[in-house]
Amino acid sequence: MGKDYLKIRVPATSANLGAGFDVFGIALEIPFDIIEIEKSDRIGIIIRGRGSEHIPTDPRNNTAGVVASILGKTVKITINRNIPLSSGLGSSAAPAAGVAWALNEMYELGLSEEELVGIAARGEQAASGVAHADNVAPAIYGGFVIVHKDKIISLMPENIGIVAVHPDIIVSTRAARAMLPGKMHIDDVSFNIGNAASMVVGMMKSDIKLIGESMESRVIERIRSGLIKGYSLVKKKALDAGAAGVTISGSGPTMIAVCRMDEREKIAKAMMQGFSESHVRSEAFMTTIGRGVEIIG
Ligand code: HSE
Repeated sequence: MGKDYLKIRVPATSANLGAGFDVFGIALEIPFDIIEIEKSDRIGIIIRGRGSEHIPTDPRNNTAGVVASILGKTVKITINRNIPLSSGLGSSAAPAAGVAWALNEMYELGLSEEELVGIAARGEQAASGVAHADNVAPAIYGGFVIVHKDKIISLMPENIGIVAVHPDIIVSTRAARAMLPGKMHIDDVSFNIGNAASMVVGMMKSDIKLIGESMESRVIERIRSGLIKGYSLVKKKALDAGAAGVTISGSGPTMIAVCRMDEREKIAKAMMQGFSESHVRSEAFMTTIGRGVEIIG
């Protein structure tokens, strides 16, 4: 028998990791949203917490509502938000991924995780206009994921320190995608392929140094960093403080650094100092590569 009510925890995610544009993603241990789903006679959305006033509650425009409608299930969805909005931390992906996964559990639909990623990505696209699965996939699978040709490959690296610093800057994913060039020089493509390949090996070995060195990307980082005031200074400060690598989380504006677990606090302070010297307020999450969606009640 299915369940009438589920309470789940859905993690923030960080897409791209530099050269893996639209391909790589990681789940973060914090922050996360808590979502309650209850069987009902119609689809209803209640949003509480961070940024709730800016998120549509009309199920047709809400990523979680669109997913419920794709699956044809009438549920009341209460989203308790902690993931900052429009931050590059998968705030629109988390509810889509969480609700797809939860409805599969509640109604015993028997869908595979790959199918759930496809449905969640459609939900995210319908509501946010952007098609990519590199946030919904890690939110469902946890760990590090590779999204390629409708296939998901996942693995769980251990003890990777992550510092995600979210500056008080608005970046629209749609705009950050529109500014990327349609073509890249073959040398830049080759460089990015090299770093993407090294990143996979780094993740397989839980090798912080190799992961960090592989985070550099040609073209994408240079263009998008122009949207993040203080980017170069913050990156330099993180590297000087011991980070193995720094890049933009998803389409930004959050910047993520990879480091040893015991160096997170020092690096978070250095990065926030960089933003502060650039007259930008920021907040830091000291986290690690973490679990995917889970039932908590
Ligand atoms: N891969 C997507 C992009 C992630 O960089 O546009 C958006 O969060």
